[in-house]
Amino acid sequence: MTAHQPRTEPAKIPPNQRRTVRRQLLTWYDRHQRDLPWRRHSNNAYAQWVAEVMLQQTRVDTVRDYYTRFMKRFPTIRALADAPHDAVLKHWEGLGYYRRVLNLHRAAQRLRDEKRAIPTTAAELHELPGLGDYTAAAIAAIAYGERKAAVDGNVARVIARLFGITEDVLSTRGKKTITTMAQELIPCKRPGDFNQAWMDLGSAVCTPRSPDCAACPLRRGCVAAATNRTGELPVRDGGRKSRAIPRVDLVSVIFVNDGRLLVRQRPKGGLWSGLWEFPTVERPGGGSDAQSIKTITKDSGLAGSHHPVRAGSIRHKLTHRDLRFEVYVAASDRETKNENGMKTRWATPAQLDRLSMSTAHRRIHDAVRGVLNNQ
Ligand code: ADE
Repeated sequence: MTAHQPRTEPAKIPPNQRRTVRRQLLTWYDRHQRDLPWRRHSNNAYAQWVAEVMLQQTRVDTVRDYYTRFMKRFPTIRALADAPHDAVLKHWEGLGYYRRVLNLHRAAQRLRDEKRAIPTTAAELHELPGLGDYTAAAIAAIAYGERKAAVDGNVARVIARLFGITEDVLSTRGKKTITTMAQELIPCKRPGDFNQAWMDLGSAVCTPRSPDCAACPLRRGCVAAATNRTGELPVRDGGRKSRAIPRVDLVSVIFVNDGRLLVRQRPKGGLWSGLWEFPTVERPGGGSDAQSIKTITKDSGLAGSHHPVRAGSIRHKLTHRDLRFEVYVAASDRETKNENGMKTRWATPAQLDRLSMSTAHRRIHDAVRGVLNNQ
């Protein structure tokens, strides 16, 4: 019997083409790179980590200010690890996907407790909470110069067009093809800049709908540009129809007692992890708002509420849920002994501003200010 040899796949991109792409892309990056606050601290792995985690689901323009505020308040990983989670959350408020910040904080605390520095390779970074392939590769390449490709949708689009890849870039095979090619292209020198050059090219030039091919440094070698197929490439998820996101009907009650409002803190880990909210329940199909208000009152440990007034409705879309809140304001004359296991407190509007709340619940608060002022 012959032992199986591990099969090494032949390279997909010839060496001279790799060299050309590297040179063209890095030259372009040197002239056109975006001025982003975390790029002034390329060697600081913590700075890159914070930026990459913020950028996971959020646009660069939104991230800029959040990043600057966050780094001012938590300038080192130790400062982050030592800070109370509420303070960390407050600096994330409005960015959404709060599990990211829970994981970031947990990872910082884990490293502190184990007396370890930030790992220096993508493989080790990957073991920390919240660090997937892309983020681990980006940090390792940018901060430590590891020759590792960070592949996201932008990079996949540019590579699919450049090489005329017709496989579905969201399929397992398509992803493997793109990742292999991206990895072949990464240079030994300046791997971090090269990764960021893809990102900038994908965001400024090789855009999804109307790429500016005339401004592209790679246009001479680009298969999609030469064959007029930028509109067809990349192929994304050809077979699957996009599904409507489910609608969820909710009832929220703002209980008022002597100018203070009842809020509770959501458990860590789920949706809106650790954020404060007004008591809310999902209204069962066919159920009435009045029934839901009773449920909330009891669940909040209140003996009763008086004259609930409908104060408005809020629609808030998340990636996976279309939330519809019916919002009520009700007077309450008893302190809470809540039975739902959540931390609960009465807060003045000024105190509420200092707590961390999801954008949905901030909007609920804003929507009822008029009613509250007339109470
Ligand atoms: N998107 C994700 N990471 C990024 C980075 N480092 N620079 C610009 N855009 C990005």
